Amino acid sequence: MLEVKNASKVYGEGDTKVVALNNVSLQVNKGDFIAVMGPSGSGKSTLLNVIGGLDRLSGGEVVLDGKRIDNLDENALVEIRRGKIAYVFQQYHLLSSLTAIENVFLPLLFCGANRESLDKAMGILKVVGLENRAKHKPSQLSGGEQQRVAIARAIVNNPSLILADEPTGNMDQETGAEILSLFDQLNTQGRSIIMVTHSPEVAKHAREIIFLKDGQIVDRVEQKGRI
Ligand SMILES: Nc1ncnc2c1ncn2[C@@H]1O[C@H](COP(=O)(O)OP(=O)(O)OP(=O)(O)O)[C@@H](O)[C@H]1O
Ligand SMILES: [Mg+2]
Repeated sequence: MLEVKNASKVYGEGDTKVVALNNVSLQVNKGDFIAVMGPSGSGKSTLLNVIGGLDRLSGGEVVLDGKRIDNLDENALVEIRRGKIAYVFQQYHLLSSLTAIENVFLPLLFCGANRESLDKAMGILKVVGLENRAKHKPSQLSGGEQQRVAIARAIVNNPSLILADEPTGNMDQETGAEILSLFDQLNTQGRSIIMVTHSPEVAKHAREIIFLKDGQIVDRVEQKGRI
């Protein structure tokens, strides 16, 4: 489904040059759940950013369903982000003036909303267990609830790949567990997930863990008996 081939990313030059990714190759198949771990600065977020098109590669390729996407122009990238690939961040990035349902509705609006779109947004809010918070603004929601709205917004266009950068990083364990069971559910439905985390407990949810160090994959562990 997704292939990262010899990806490299270099920031800056001369004294400030940083090799954030150094020849990383990775294959993601339908239904994969990959956790990315490694020390701060090892390139985890950079890896997600180049896959999601938020950042350009310095070398290598990203191929989605047989098509190179790393060299697409901004408009084409936006299309992919709206469709096949969704992003969930540690900071939820909800629009504070919009209600939960409006935040979830927004991506549908960009894709040509119709009469059914509001029902669809409401249906997804139900999936994340927030149908009774639809009219709340982000400031009226707990952190875990805000993240669930952000996940609802990410999946409303039915993406095949979800990129999540420390999605439970801001939460206590219990709230984090709710978010993780949501990811488990999405993965069981066949969606692929790549999730960055610092927590070994959180990484247990993945089917495979890859470890980055200095921009390189230094280890891979398959988890057969994952939670
Ligand atoms: N926009 C940028 N300009 C220059 N250097 C950058 C930029 N973004 C990241 N870097 C550098 O690239 C390296 C990898 O950064 P990245 O954000 O991918 O690390 P990370 O593994 O996600 O770390 P953390 O666990 O702290 O989030 C770091 O050394 C960082 O300083
Ligand atoms: Mg990071």
